[in-house]
Amino acid sequence: MTAKIIDGKAFAANIRGQVATHVARLKADHGITPGLAVVLVGEDPASEVYVRSKGKQTAEAGMNSYEHKLDANTSEADLLTLIAKLNADPAVHGILVQLPLPGHLNSDLVINAIDPAKDVDGFHISNVGLLGTGQKSMVPCTPLGCLMMLRDHHGKLSGLNAVVVGRSNIVGKPMAQLLLGDSCTVTIAHSRTKDLPEVCRRADILVAAVGRPEMITGEYVRPGATVIDVGINRIERDGKTKLVGDAHFESCAAVAGAITPVPGGVGPMTIACLLANTLTACCRANGLPEPDGLTA
Ligand code: GUN
Repeated sequence: MTAKIIDGKAFAANIRGQVATHVARLKADHGITPGLAVVLVGEDPASEVYVRSKGKQTAEAGMNSYEHKLDANTSEADLLTLIAKLNADPAVHGILVQLPLPGHLNSDLVINAIDPAKDVDGFHISNVGLLGTGQKSMVPCTPLGCLMMLRDHHGKLSGLNAVVVGRSNIVGKPMAQLLLGDSCTVTIAHSRTKDLPEVCRRADILVAAVGRPEMITGEYVRPGATVIDVGINRIERDGKTKLVGDAHFESCAAVAGAITPVPGGVGPMTIACLLANTLTACCRANGLPEPDGLTA
């Protein structure tokens, strides 16, 4: 069997297009422009690339982008003062503090200082609790993107066996909650799981989010299963730097029914969902209906 390649790049472009259409309508009908504030502390090169990309795509969708670049030595008090200002600013509908933060800053404290209604990352403890109890929340962008692709590929997910490999707060745990919300039978596996290949072979949907390059091989995949590869790992091969996922693409694609590639799979969906969340937050703040198909 050769798997269908799920084209995340095209899917994300479609989502961004839908967001842009809604934004244009919000402006024309209500005079409202959604605004996203991104806060970057320090000069981590990977974070700078992400933040630049977020700013560019926010503007392309017709939204206002507010970038706050702070010195690596910024105190916690100064960062919290900025967050309080953004919380109170009616032009700002979404706030994202780029992680990781420098070591002297307490990420949990900083994230939990964001107004939950503006927490477009879905990392605030209130949003985690709301998602866990099946209530309306802001949903973390990467798992939301995975859910959208899965719904598109499968139609209904109800009753399917889903195995999520990885238990991070950013991907693994919220991914499991979302799949449960769509009535999948969900297993969260991780590096300590006994007989991991056997557990993974039970999956109709296998989400690889372990952060280990090419760890999930074809041996882990049930014939015909859908493999969602969340990993983005930079490795050296044949003297070149290469981007690979947590799944070994060739061996998985030989067994799976469908698979997301790296790059061009889950990756582009994260920022697309960030834009979707900013639009959703803006609609909620203004008491307007939420756009269909862009939330969980
Ligand atoms: N760093 C890497 N990914 C993310 C993300 O999705 N959100 C934030 N805030 N920081 C990140």
